[in-house]
Amino acid sequence: MLIQGLGLIVLALILCQILAWVMRQRMEVRAVDQIAQGEIAYLRRLTEEAEVRTQTRIRQTDLAWSGWRKFRVLTIMDESDSVKSFYLTPHDKKPLPPFLPGQHVAVKVMPKGRPDPIVRCYSLSCAPNAQFYRISVRREGPRPEAPDRPPGLMSDFLHTSLQEGDFIDLKSPSGTFTLDLSLHTPIVLIGGGIGITPVFSMLDAIVTQKSNREVWFFAGMRNQHDHPMRMQLQAYADRCEHLRLMVCYSDPSPECQQDKDYHHQGFVSVDLLRRCLPSNNYDFYFCGPPGMMEALNRDLGAWGVPANRLHYEAFGPATVGSKVGSPTGSELADVFTIKFLRSDKTVEWTSTKGSLLDLADQHGVRIESGCRSGNCGTCVTAIRHGEIDYPVPPSDMPDEGTCLVCTAVPRSDLELDA
Ligand SMILES: Cc1cc2nc3c(=O)[nH]c(=O)nc-3n(C[C@H](O)[C@H](O)[C@H](O)COP(=O)(O)OP(=O)(O)OC[C@H]3O[C@@H](n4cnc5c(N)ncnc54)[C@H](O)[C@@H]3O)c2cc1C
Ligand code: FES
Repeated sequence: MLIQGLGLIVLALILCQILAWVMRQRMEVRAVDQIAQGEIAYLRRLTEEAEVRTQTRIRQTDLAWSGWRKFRVLTIMDESDSVKSFYLTPHDKKPLPPFLPGQHVAVKVMPKGRPDPIVRCYSLSCAPNAQFYRISVRREGPRPEAPDRPPGLMSDFLHTSLQEGDFIDLKSPSGTFTLDLSLHTPIVLIGGGIGITPVFSMLDAIVTQKSNREVWFFAGMRNQHDHPMRMQLQAYADRCEHLRLMVCYSDPSPECQQDKDYHHQGFVSVDLLRRCLPSNNYDFYFCGPPGMMEALNRDLGAWGVPANRLHYEAFGPATVGSKVGSPTGSELADVFTIKFLRSDKTVEWTSTKGSLLDLADQHGVRIESGCRSGNCGTCVTAIRHGEIDYPVPPSDMPDEGTCLVCTAVPRSDLELDA
């Protein structure tokens, strides 16, 4: 009996082992199956994302135009005391290229009584859509600290003269400060002052896309009077669980209530980011005044954010992380001869003369220009002989054999078609 009982127990144990082995096998098969499914889904997503990127590029290239195109001002809206938004639609009623959030357009206007047109760049400040473009422009008026300074030419014209129904000229959207909408990685968007426009476009695109991408948005303004897109930002923050909004006022006015109208008193700094964000594992996109950009770039690097996760744009000649302002000894020692062929002028360049456009201005050589920061393409000039360098690379490189003289400096003696 005892032997029989032991036999049964041994048999039961063997059966249990076999059963456990079979179950393990089935679980492993299922796990492998799940991993394979996961990998297939992951690969499918990568393929779909690549497809979206390719399609967007194809549609952009197909619909982009060269040169200037007439746009009608549909609507003008106040965004703050000093910022107005202009909704623009193509006069020819043909489709618009689907720009990438963060890109800008060059705008040309010809105010009455001026001998030359004015050209400036403005970021598109809304999500890509097929109906209209929107730019949001801050009027560069005389400031209390410099009341005698004349207002900015273009921004003053747009604010005080341009009317709904008027026409302005635009170049196709361009620029490399863009957000890839086919990705789902977490991001931090930081806009200081009017630098909010390109990062707002990125946020608007994410919200329009109904993406669940984790987004932190830091808006750095003086106070609520200076704060464009205030209502829209708050509406998005109320609506989107994946969006965290931090409004920072450096000089809140007495009627502003902390935690209702704004969250933090002071500037947007890496110290603040470190207190808010759970880690530094984000892509950072920022645009704002030069001091803010320099500090963010430097301090995010010191916090351990790799350079390829820092994306930024300046609204003027940028020096963030560039060679400008720190020429090497040999650069300082360089002297080159520059021939402006059409003007029949030969002059000397040294690093104190600035860009080739500055040099042309100093010697009365007329070259049409707009942004003077390598963004609008207006100053493109053919190089007949010699080599140039860009201390700050332009947002879009011009064609081979030409250069953007507003940001170019010589690397050798030069002959320019100007
Ligand atoms: C890629 C890019 C995107 C941009 N996006 C935007 C945007 O979305 N929104 C926006 O508002 N801007 C944007 N800008 C800036 C914009 O292009 C213009 O630089 C800005 O509007 C000022 O142009 P303006 O013609 O009004 O001023 P300008 O006439 O060029 O004058 C510039 C400043 O100099 C001052 N000034 C003029 N004359 C004198 C003088 N004699 N002495 C002393 N000071 C003087 C003016 O008061 C003004 O503050 C962007 C720029 C770039 C490069
Ligand atoms: S003036 Fe705009 S690119 Fe040179």
